[in-house]
Amino acid sequence: MKIIKRTLLLLAVIFLPLAHATQEDPDKRTTVYLDAEERNIVLAEMRTFLSTLQQITQGVATDNMQLVETSAKTMGQDASGGVSLSLIFKLPLSFKLFAADTHQQFDQIALDASSLADRDHTLEQVSVLMQNCVACHAMYRIEKED
Ligand code: HEC
Repeated sequence: MKIIKRTLLLLAVIFLPLAHATQEDPDKRTTVYLDAEERNIVLAEMRTFLSTLQQITQGVATDNMQLVETSAKTMGQDASGGVSLSLIFKLPLSFKLFAADTHQQFDQIALDASSLADRDHTLEQVSVLMQNCVACHAMYRIEKED
């Protein structure tokens, strides 16, 4: 009996740390810690990204290049409302570069929609732009700091 107990204890000592290791966070994205207000600003901007993309694709689908231009313009480089210095400081450099490039691409979509008014071209631009959405989402997540 004693030997069985000892063996069990030994096994527990060996395998418990392993069991613990498998409980580590399966989400391997880099966590960006923001306070509640900053997190809200970033996520609200994300939802605006999504609704703007909806407007742009609607504009392409209905051949309304005016809609493409005006909606894309709202997410251009002038759209950095509410971004404080502290938030800029907390965001990793590559996050900021991705964000800046995304705004720049929205500006280009707006410009080309007005000068070229070519739906195929806009659609191609949207597919390139969305690679930024995909890439950044694969890299980062946001948590509220304590
Ligand atoms: C600079 C990096 C970055 C870019 C570029 C980016 N996102 Fe995000 N987005 C994030 C992060 C980080 C989150 C939070 C994810 C998490 O915590 O799991 C997020 C969350 C979101 C959410 C969820 C918002 C909520 O209320 O929870 C939406 C929708 C979204 N993004 C849409 C987009 C779209 C559409 C694009 C492209 C036009 C885009 N994002 C580009 C980083 C980015």
